[in-house]
Amino acid sequence: MCGIVGYTGSDTAKDVLISGLKRLEYRGYDSAGVALERAAGPGGGATCLDIVRRVGKVAGLESELAHRDDASTCGIGHTRWATHGRPTTANAHPHTSCDGRIAVVHNGIIENFAELRAELESRGHRFASETDTEVFAHLIEEAYDGRPDAGIPATGDLMAAVRAACTRVVGAYGLAAVCADEPGVIAVARKDSPIVVGRGERGSYVASDVIALIDATRDVVVLEDGQFARLTPEGIEFSDEQGRPIEPDVTHIDWDIDLAEKGGYPDFMLKEICEQPRVVRDTLVGRLSPTGELDIDELGLSFEELDLIDRVYVIACGTSYHAGLIAKNLIEAWARIPCEVEAASEFRYRNPIITPSTLVVAVSQSGETADTLAAIRDARIKGAKVFGITNVVGSPVARESDGVIYTKANKEIAVASTKSFIGQIVSLTLLALLLGQVKGKLTVGQVRMLFRELGDTAAQIQWILDTQREAVHEAALACKDAPSALFVGRGMGAAISYEGALKLKEVSYLHAEAYAAGEMKHGPIALIDPGFPVIAVATDSPVYDKVVSNLKECEARGANIIALATEGDEDIRRIADHVIYIPPVRDAFCAITASVPLQLLAREVAVMRGCDVDQPRNLAKSVTVE
Ligand code: AGP
Repeated sequence: MCGIVGYTGSDTAKDVLISGLKRLEYRGYDSAGVALERAAGPGGGATCLDIVRRVGKVAGLESELAHRDDASTCGIGHTRWATHGRPTTANAHPHTSCDGRIAVVHNGIIENFAELRAELESRGHRFASETDTEVFAHLIEEAYDGRPDAGIPATGDLMAAVRAACTRVVGAYGLAAVCADEPGVIAVARKDSPIVVGRGERGSYVASDVIALIDATRDVVVLEDGQFARLTPEGIEFSDEQGRPIEPDVTHIDWDIDLAEKGGYPDFMLKEICEQPRVVRDTLVGRLSPTGELDIDELGLSFEELDLIDRVYVIACGTSYHAGLIAKNLIEAWARIPCEVEAASEFRYRNPIITPSTLVVAVSQSGETADTLAAIRDARIKGAKVFGITNVVGSPVARESDGVIYTKANKEIAVASTKSFIGQIVSLTLLALLLGQVKGKLTVGQVRMLFRELGDTAAQIQWILDTQREAVHEAALACKDAPSALFVGRGMGAAISYEGALKLKEVSYLHAEAYAAGEMKHGPIALIDPGFPVIAVATDSPVYDKVVSNLKECEARGANIIALATEGDEDIRRIADHVIYIPPVRDAFCAITASVPLQLLAREVAVMRGCDVDQPRNLAKSVTVE
């Protein structure tokens, strides 16, 4: 998704901005740009704004800026992922007012953009882009200069003008603005779109993600909705919607920048896959009390409230939705509560049956996915209790839920979710165990045993990473030139298959579909020609024999069968062309282990096909707008 950076201080602004934008590249974008303040003539004089924008990578923008001098010490920058308007230079941020004296960068969406644009055009404003963001530049211009004919008084002050513009906008914004008439000042606003600011030794910084700031400072302020900040080289002033000064909460960032680097791996995706044993362990730390009961203190719901729950909805998107499919199996098995899993983008637009005894579990790695957030809000209005599972502390999902489990995956840089998916499954498993415990369907002894086995999956993942890479490589060779691939499984295996197909599609651009194996004969089997790759989750489970008989149907049609099987299962080799093993594990936990070879497979195929595994085309790390 889009990224914002801004800097005012004593260093060369273009260098600070480019390095910040590079840190934000992992979010996905299609164009980048900066606005730099410059003295207008060699002898000084009035300041003007130098706007440089490029379609494509930040490196292209950097090359362009190499021709500019180093004099500017204040500017704002942006990476854009197209929503309103195509990915063109004209639509890239920053956007400017009619006279070019005010420039803005913006993340989020302006819902009343069409009305505002029409209104501004009727007063003579000329628009240079198709974006919603540009209305901000013109609104700020009017508030700065005043429009007596429209009853708009002149503020003559950038911060006040930004605040006034925000009162006109319906929607979400993280915003940074500069004005040629106020050199060295950056005005910042936030509503429903993340903004962090911080003071370093050499100036003041703003970004949409703390990762862009941590080279300069580790003490940051995460702006709350409705808060504003005015940055100058000397300091930062915080204010509320009325312009009253406020005292901000400072957060100290204690994680290391190494986390944001590849740590010796060829790409972030592989690094993050390999971190999964740690994610399992960290997500479970401190969750079992000395008496053997589950302890989730950030639950936000009492055991009495949980006991009243009679229906669960898991709402999420993409990979997080697939974690929900796995949770459904566990919640229904252990707590005996009906559980439905819905894409948040569907849930929010229908009228689901929700009562005060409904628990809505919202799963989101980023904690800021627009559809998931909208679904949470809707569910709360309808009276549901909402429980969030997210990887980002203080994210909108965490803040807007009654309770939360954090997945402890740490920052996930690759666009494809891997370690956060494993963290989600572990967290959802904890929730299912807790519901089973509270509902009296699981004894303390059973919870303790299951918890221990859940923890064992860390070592099992490590075993897969240590021993199955070659088998994955062989399987990838069988897929890489295929026009398509089919993932099949039953029960837990079906849920894992959906995620396997999504991962392969998104990183390798190879078409893939997933089916419950029993559905093969109702249509998809028509796809199978000799050599067609069928990836089957055939691990030890109550439906193992059924999966094998489905595979026989594929074998009869000449499919190239890649089986995920349980270590020790030699029989599967009679039917499968390639076998990848996972260690023996209870079926309830096989999603955690069996997902790992599928992640490795998707990455391996993508690498063989020359794809950028960390930044697949057309995708962004989080989808904060529709
Ligand atoms: C998958 O690899 C993607 N990252 C994507 O499907 C993702 O899971 C989806 O966009 C939801 O994101 P969220 O978990 O941050 O809400």
